[in-house]
Amino acid sequence: MDKKVIFSGIQPTGTFTLGNYLGALQNWAALQDEYNCCYSVVNMHAITVRQDPKDLRANTLSAYAMLLSVGIDPEKCILFIQSHVRTHAELAWVLDCYTQFGELSRMTQFKDKSARHPENINCGLFTYPSLMAADILLYQADLVPVGDDQRQHLELTRDIAERFNGIYGNTFTVPDGYYPKLTARVMSLQDPTKKMSKSDDNPKSYISLLDPPATIVKKIKSAVTDSDSLVAYREGKDGINNLMSIYSAVTKKSLEQIENEFVGKGYGDFKQAVGEAVAEALRPIQEKHAQLMREKAFLEDCYRAGAEKAQQVSQRTLDKVYKKIGFLPR
Ligand code: TYM
Repeated sequence: MDKKVIFSGIQPTGTFTLGNYLGALQNWAALQDEYNCCYSVVNMHAITVRQDPKDLRANTLSAYAMLLSVGIDPEKCILFIQSHVRTHAELAWVLDCYTQFGELSRMTQFKDKSARHPENINCGLFTYPSLMAADILLYQADLVPVGDDQRQHLELTRDIAERFNGIYGNTFTVPDGYYPKLTARVMSLQDPTKKMSKSDDNPKSYISLLDPPATIVKKIKSAVTDSDSLVAYREGKDGINNLMSIYSAVTKKSLEQIENEFVGKGYGDFKQAVGEAVAEALRPIQEKHAQLMREKAFLEDCYRAGAEKAQQVSQRTLDKVYKKIGFLPR
């Protein structure tokens, strides 16, 4: 039987955070043997917020190198940059015409981002989820490994696919989300009721995947926690729950093992251990990233080959869609 298909994407806005890694990227690498995986640096999504062109170019290359650094193997997966593959913009337009204004108006990410950038509430920000649906549906993905914040977009993708299939007959695979158990929502270190985000103004609130070890330990040590001193996963202990989830994800220890490890010890010891474990987990990724960033020609070869494969696979779906909706072939 053919392997199932996975698609996921990440925006090249700034350096990825520990949230990106534990919520998504770690799974991307883990799933690549069992599935046919397509992963994309979605730079077209990134311009829904104003970007400096020089930074966007540099961040896109760095993001691509980071995906290789977390263990994604371009021989096993299709790894590409979204703007290199034209089918994405083309299908997005078609899907825009099968997505309701009311549906897009309900997207919480749109509401959040328009509140944060009141000077630039552009139409791309509004229709962003139908571009995301196009990304996924072009590859007939069965599964989409993402963090919890993408759940609503994924539900909309399913609705769009089902609607289209309902009108034109089976065209798209209806995808399911794939979320990690403990780290689908890694929280801000400074406000553990908010998700960790690379666009947070306070860099102490997130760990960047390229933070030096000493910075990582320092940021975790200054993480906001509660005022008792019990290392235990309990309701109301948001800060500690977050750090325990992170520690569990990087060490593969269960929550119970972690509780036992820190019986009779305080938050100081616990935070030190979490900081060191995170720094240790990121060390090989950082080394690989530094090495790849010196190998520009290799990166270029990789993303060109990825784009070619992606174009080929996605064109099949786009052709099918154009035929079904009645576009006269050229
Ligand atoms: P983006 O670039 O914001 O984030 C990339 C991935 O990281 C996850 N993530 C988190 N997971 C856990 N805790 C956090 N604090 C955290 N912050 C981010 C996100 O859930 C995501 O999986 N719209 C998408 C990009 C996209 C996409 C796609 C994803 C475009 N097309 C198609 C899947 C399929 C986004 O903005 O992710």
